[in-house]
Amino acid sequence: MIERNILEKYNTAVPRYTSYPPANFFHENINGEDYRRILIESNQKKPENISLYIHIPFCPKLCFYCGCNTTITRNNQLITDYTEALKKEIRMVSELLDKNRKVSQIHWGGGTPNSLPIEIIKSIMELIYKEFQFIDEPEIAMECSPAYLTWDYLDELINLKFNRFSFGIQDFRQDVLKAVNRSEPAIHVEDLMTYIRNNSNAGINLDFIYGLPLQTVESFKETITQAAKLEPDRLVTFSYAHVPWFKKTQRKLEEYGLPDAEAKLQMFEAGYEIMTKAGYVPIGLDHYAKPDDELSRALENKMLHRNFQGYCTRETTGQVYAFGTSSISQLYSAYIQNTKDVKKYIAAMTNDEFAVEKGYELKPEQIVIREVINEIMCNQYLSWETIAERLNAKITALKAIIAQNQEQLQEFEADGLITLNDDGLTVKGNGRFVIRNIAASFDPIIKANEQKFSKSI
Ligand SMILES: C[S@@+](CC[C@H](N)C(=O)[O-])C[C@H]1O[C@@H](n2cnc3c(N)ncnc32)[C@H](O)[C@@H]1O
Ligand code: SF4
Repeated sequence: MIERNILEKYNTAVPRYTSYPPANFFHENINGEDYRRILIESNQKKPENISLYIHIPFCPKLCFYCGCNTTITRNNQLITDYTEALKKEIRMVSELLDKNRKVSQIHWGGGTPNSLPIEIIKSIMELIYKEFQFIDEPEIAMECSPAYLTWDYLDELINLKFNRFSFGIQDFRQDVLKAVNRSEPAIHVEDLMTYIRNNSNAGINLDFIYGLPLQTVESFKETITQAAKLEPDRLVTFSYAHVPWFKKTQRKLEEYGLPDAEAKLQMFEAGYEIMTKAGYVPIGLDHYAKPDDELSRALENKMLHRNFQGYCTRETTGQVYAFGTSSISQLYSAYIQNTKDVKKYIAAMTNDEFAVEKGYELKPEQIVIREVINEIMCNQYLSWETIAERLNAKITALKAIIAQNQEQLQEFEADGLITLNDDGLTVKGNGRFVIRNIAASFDPIIKANEQKFSKSI
């Protein structure tokens, strides 16, 4: 299905573009005082709405494949101290934000937020409801591990107005879960979904990973076929990122052997085929949404947007203010990342200081480049006229900033990956699988730093 010669040809070093500039450009020459100034300045910037990200860096047990930022603990004192620090940070930030701005989105991620006692979630949500105003229908989402969910816990989350649940399933096979040291869901996933649908309007997302030990192309097909039958609103098939030099526990998976690159590609293709045949719309490379889901509608209207928490729509997202260890605030003119160290984070908050570890302030021209790259990555198209309108600038001025590589663009067109037109381009055919390369042809950083990025596939 995916042309192997296209993949080979474009398997070069390019960024993932989860942010622009990419996170490996963040530097440590930025501190709490800078963050305070940037927070105040962000009140005058777009989008006016506020997105909040709450990071919970705790899990009861370590999945060997895990690439997330988490610590294994059941230490109640540490969790209590962390909760107090989080609340302090929320108050420190909200104090600096314009009270007329409204929250449109809250995302709880981790780690495993649902491994915390529900009273802690409640007390943090109550603080947020007290400190901020909200739009009419904000999105309130939590990444949950179904191993630690109970019916009562779910009821409480629904009462607290959570309206989007993302469940990490990874695989339905017990032997795969056992090999990666992951506990099985406490409640049968089908029952969980039926209960949520009968008792709320919440959207449901299921996460899967391909490339884990004991998985075969056939077994992954069965898993995704089973998942499609459950009709989640959204589904993601993550490619397992094996980085044992960075996440040492991943070495344990090598004892079983891991599926090779061709098997992984076939698993990805199988997921794509099963989900699109089931009527889902592919979003980006590996996300799928029902056709009536707001992500699919946003893609159709070219209003899809992305932040570190995943895809969202331009109407619902805001500038992201992030809380907790390792979390990244994603503001109009800067990215700010907190320390990953739980103890350092708690100490900073106890001293009324921000816990900034690194970040990046964008130059005005980089804001333009970011807009172009995001548009291509999310909406698979580029219209200079739309970008000029959005940024209130002239097309000629925008084009002077962007490093359009005309020769490269013509080659993409000759390879059937894009259609060029007077106002920009549209991605087509196999183009979606090399979208990072297409975006990179507008990026001046690439020319200067090719060696800093991983291969595109
Ligand atoms: C931040 S985790 C939080 C979810 C929750 N802790 C759980 O495991 O159910 C979000 C998702 O990242 C994915 N993930 C974690 N480690 C990964 C890795 N090394 N490679 C690819 N995806 C990974 C998993 O699918 C997981 O559901
Ligand atoms: S539960 Fe989620 S965050 Fe925790 S170790 Fe497993 S994959 Fe990582």
